[in-house]
Amino acid sequence: MGKVIVFGSLNMDVIVQSDRRPAAGETILGATVSLLPGGKGSNQAIAAARLGAKTEMLGVVGDDAFGGELRAVLKRSGVNNSGVRIQRGMSTGVALIQVAGGDNAITGASGANGAFKAAEVRRAPRRGEVWVGQFETPVAATEALLRKARATGATTILNLAPMVPHPPRLLKFVDIAVLNEIELAQATGARITARSPERTIAAACRKLGARIVIATLGGRGLVMAGPDWVLSLPAFKAKVVDTTGAGDCFVGALAARLSAGVSLSDAARYATAAASCSVERLGAAPAMPTPREVAARLSRA
Ligand SMILES: Nc1ncnc2c1ncn2[C@@H]1O[C@H](COP(=O)(O)OP(=O)(O)O)[C@@H](O)[C@H]1O
Ligand SMILES: [Mg+2]
Repeated sequence: MGKVIVFGSLNMDVIVQSDRRPAAGETILGATVSLLPGGKGSNQAIAAARLGAKTEMLGVVGDDAFGGELRAVLKRSGVNNSGVRIQRGMSTGVALIQVAGGDNAITGASGANGAFKAAEVRRAPRRGEVWVGQFETPVAATEALLRKARATGATTILNLAPMVPHPPRLLKFVDIAVLNEIELAQATGARITARSPERTIAAACRKLGARIVIATLGGRGLVMAGPDWVLSLPAFKAKVVDTTGAGDCFVGALAARLSAGVSLSDAARYATAAASCSVERLGAAPAMPTPREVAARLSRA
């Protein structure tokens, strides 16, 4: 069984819940706060490890309490954190999430995530490994690592989230691109929604330029397209509590199954089942399912 190497972001999500959001200049009291480990990279690594893959995380945190906690959370989740560097004098990435009456506003401060460089990665990719990146750390580092991993025969997965400007050549180093309908529209200029017909989504997928593109479509499931094929998979029914991190769960689960050597379509079905479990619990990292939960969901279908 190969390993999963996730390179990317680690954030502390600071979630403030109140009846309403304060107006500019206003102070309101009576809010509650929760701190939840987040960052797409870290979420994806935790999902892969919880599902049984040998997983390593590469990234940067600051020399503050959040950084120490995020490294500890990875360790507790079974992720090798020795590639998570502590950058002196920088703050750990924070997402400030203000939740007010079902509506939320998010302010991201990428902090130490912005200091991640490909040159600091000592660990060379190996054939059979699955390397996974996202867009919350500098694009130049992501491109360099994907290129290197691809050249050694590792499988490369890029989650193009959140969408940021990137050179189109980067997609040449990607075996499997994963993105949601909003990101696919942003990246290709295609006018699509999660309800667009399969052929419209597939056409946008092909426009992206990666070998295989998986468009995740929330409660609809996914459409994935290769050079001369298209496959749609429906989502599994779920009792939705919080969809935060569904995409991250999908990516981590996909990487985990591919590292175990299963076929792409089986891995995608497994990841769809895993993601449907993750939406039934609050938060991202804490909501990642166990292999038992995913097996139960698969057998229910
Ligand atoms: N309401 C839901 N019910 C069941 N599965 C869901 C639901 N929302 C998301 N999922 C699963 O999670 C995957 C990723 O969700 P999606 O919303 O597409 O990603 P993102 O979180 O990046 O927007 C979907 O392809 C689907 O399998
Ligand atoms: Mg979505």
